[in-house]
Amino acid sequence: MAAQKTTYGIIGYPLKSSLSPLMHNTAFKELGVDAVYKIFSLKEDQFPDFFSDLREKTNPIFGLNVTVPYKEKVISYLDTLSPFAEKVMAVNTIVINKERRLIGYNTDGPGFLSHLTELKFDTKGKRVVMLGAGGTARAILAVLCLLPNRPEGIKIYNRTPENLDRLIEDLSTRIDLSIVETVNSVDDLNIELADFLINTTSLGMKEGDQCLINEELFHSNLLVYDVIYNPPETKFLKMARKRGAKTVNGLGMLFYQGVLAFQHWSNIQLDERVKAKMRESLTKGLKP
Ligand SMILES: NC(=O)c1ccc[n+]([C@@H]2O[C@H](COP(=O)([O-])OP(=O)(O)OC[C@H]3O[C@@H](n4cnc5c(N)ncnc54)[C@H](OP(=O)(O)O)[C@@H]3O)[C@@H](O)[C@H]2O)c1
Repeated sequence: MAAQKTTYGIIGYPLKSSLSPLMHNTAFKELGVDAVYKIFSLKEDQFPDFFSDLREKTNPIFGLNVTVPYKEKVISYLDTLSPFAEKVMAVNTIVINKERRLIGYNTDGPGFLSHLTELKFDTKGKRVVMLGAGGTARAILAVLCLLPNRPEGIKIYNRTPENLDRLIEDLSTRIDLSIVETVNSVDDLNIELADFLINTTSLGMKEGDQCLINEELFHSNLLVYDVIYNPPETKFLKMARKRGAKTVNGLGMLFYQGVLAFQHWSNIQLDERVKAKMRESLTKGLKP
């Protein structure tokens, strides 16, 4: 029987479409690597069989991305975590090595930082405001607090305060969160004094989604970042732009987390030409 093609992929549920196959299959093509990146829409009750199969020597899968709602749930199926993934306790990248051992990484946080570097935005001493307390907030809050040059402060709000409390309680056992302050209302975020506003919620993905922030709170001294990239301009970003703020969507973060994931799987430092092709594939993939 012919050997199966070396396979990579993304697991999540429900997972009908994703831009990740475009980006990674472009990289394989550009590098002349005979491999394929696929979507695995898995229900949680399929995990025991899926992860046990992954350990088989004949299994062609050598790397995975993990998306909603499994970034925390996969951890119990892995052998080791990178130091950052262990601090965040969320995994979006799995390497399956030659011994079929499973190593978990989190490239969402570093991907976000790489995008900020590209934007030439230095968080040192900045007043940061965040919305949300899900998996993405977890990774972003962790990287911002672990930076040697930390922001002056981070105020964070979530619709469900209990979820935010749980996130802070958990992260604070491993990360110094002394610059973080949770608030119970958007008014207490003091956006008028902030330099950097980040939406990490999924609010804005659907047509007709409202915005948590009143338009008059946006101002021209703000960098406004929405982790959402589809639609490319959410209502949140549109309102911020109208008020003169610099606005950025999450496509850059998606790109950099993907580049880092690819590098973990392959041990190859991608060159600028291949990275440009990967990014182009994402931009094209978003166009209706
Ligand atoms: N750009 C990138 O590379 C990248 C990477 C990862 C994720 N993302 C995007 O990030 C977003 C969040 O993903 P996630 O994994 O963090 O999801 P998640 O863990 O499910 O968290 C969702 C967050 O959104 C909040 N939320 C959902 N609906 C809301 C509503 N109607 N009003 C107010 N808050 C609401 C939730 O608040 P409650 O706690 O109150 O439910 C929670 O804080 C998604 O759009 C995802 O596509 C982007």
